[in-house]
Amino acid sequence: MSVTPDLECRGINKSFGQFQAVNDVSFSIPAGSFFSILGPSGCGKTSLLRMLAGFSEPDSGEILIKGKSVKGIPPNKRPVNMVFQHLALFPMMNVGDNIAYGLKRRKVSAQEQQRRVADVLERIGLPGIEKKSIDQLSGGQKQRVAIARCLILEPALLLLDEPLGALDLKLREQMKIELKTLQQTFGTTFVYITHDQSEAMVMSDQVAVMNHGRFEQVGSPQTLYYQPETPFVAGFVGNNNRLSGQVIKTAKDFIQVSTESGHIFHTSSSSILETNTAVEMFLRPEAIHIDRDSDKSWQNTMKGRIDNILFDGGNSQLLVRDTASPTQMTVALPQTGKYQKLRQGEIIKLGWNAEQSIAFKAG
Ligand SMILES: Nc1ncnc2c1ncn2[C@@H]1O[C@H](COP(=O)(O)OP(=O)(O)O)[C@@H](O)[C@H]1O
Ligand SMILES: [Mg+2]
Repeated sequence: MSVTPDLECRGINKSFGQFQAVNDVSFSIPAGSFFSILGPSGCGKTSLLRMLAGFSEPDSGEILIKGKSVKGIPPNKRPVNMVFQHLALFPMMNVGDNIAYGLKRRKVSAQEQQRRVADVLERIGLPGIEKKSIDQLSGGQKQRVAIARCLILEPALLLLDEPLGALDLKLREQMKIELKTLQQTFGTTFVYITHDQSEAMVMSDQVAVMNHGRFEQVGSPQTLYYQPETPFVAGFVGNNNRLSGQVIKTAKDFIQVSTESGHIFHTSSSSILETNTAVEMFLRPEAIHIDRDSDKSWQNTMKGRIDNILFDGGNSQLLVRDTASPTQMTVALPQTGKYQKLRQGEIIKLGWNAEQSIAFKAG
C-alpha cells in the first residue's frame, strides 16, 4: 500500500502576462519530510509557494494536499501555514499570545490554549517564556517563536519563504541546524524555499533545483552533488570548476576532451557524446589532488601557480592559475597540516582521475 504524499503538484503553470514564471512543475513530497526548492532569485520559487498557500491559483495543473485537490480553496481554509522572511510577529502581544493567536481564532478554550503553548515552547527549547515581550527575544528566538506559532496549528505543510534571508551569517548557520531539528521533532512536512544552496543541502531530505520556472532536478543533497543531471545543477549546487571544450575521442567509460585552455582531459560524461560535441566539464575543488613532489600518476594533470591562498580552516581553498593558459582553478586545501607551507607564487601540480569530472553537452 502506498502512503498518500503530503503534497503533490501535477503540471503547474503560471504566467504573468507573456512571462511564464512557473513552467510545467510536477513533484510530490512524502509525509514528514524536509523538502527544499532551490534556485536563483527570480526563478519562480515564491510564485510557486503562493499557489501552494492559496494566494494565487495556477493557470493549469493540479495541487493536492494530503491527496485532496485544493483548487478554489482560500488560504485560510487550506491545511498550510506560511513563514515569511519578515516574521510578522505581533510586537504588542507577548510570546504566549503570539503563539496562541491561531488557536484563539479557532475558538480553542483558554485552558487548552495555555496547555498547548506551554507544550510547543517546551519543544522549541524555550520553556516558560510565555510572558516575555517579543522585543526581549534574540533574532534566533524570534524565528523559533514564529515557527512555533504555525506548528501549533498542526498544518499538513509548513511553507517557508527564505525565512533566514534577513539574518546575519552566524545566526543563519545556527538556524539551519535548529530548523532541521525542529522539523524532525514535530514531523511536520516543511517546504522551504531558498537561493542559498548550503541552506538547502544541510537541511533537506530532498531538494528541487529550479531554474527559469522549471525543476531541473529533484534529489537528495548527495545525488544532486555527485550525480548532477544538468550543467545548471552542476554549477549551482556546491562549488565547481567549469572548463569548456570539445570531445575528441570517445571510449566505453570515458571521453577525451580538448579544452579551450589547450589541455586534453579524460572525463566521465552525463550521456553518450559524439566526437566534436561542444561540452562543459565540471570538476569539484575537493576532487583535485595537490602534488608538490610526489610522482603519483593521475589520468589528468595541470601545472599551476598559486595565485592566492584563501585560508578559512576546514574550508580553505587555493586559487591556482594554469601555467599554460589564463584558466584559474579553485582547489580545496585539505587541513592535514601537510600543506601549511604552501606559498603564493609557488608552482604545483594538480591531478585527478577521469571519474572525478563530468562533461555535459554545452547548452
Ligand atoms: N504578480 C506578478 N506580476 C508580474 N510578474 C511577477 C509577479 N510575481 C512574480 N513575477 C515575476 O515572476 C518571476 C519570478 O518571481 P518569483 O516567483 O518572486 O521568484 P523567486 O521567488 O524565485 O525570486 C520574476 O521575474 C518576477 O518579476
Ligand atoms: Mg522569492
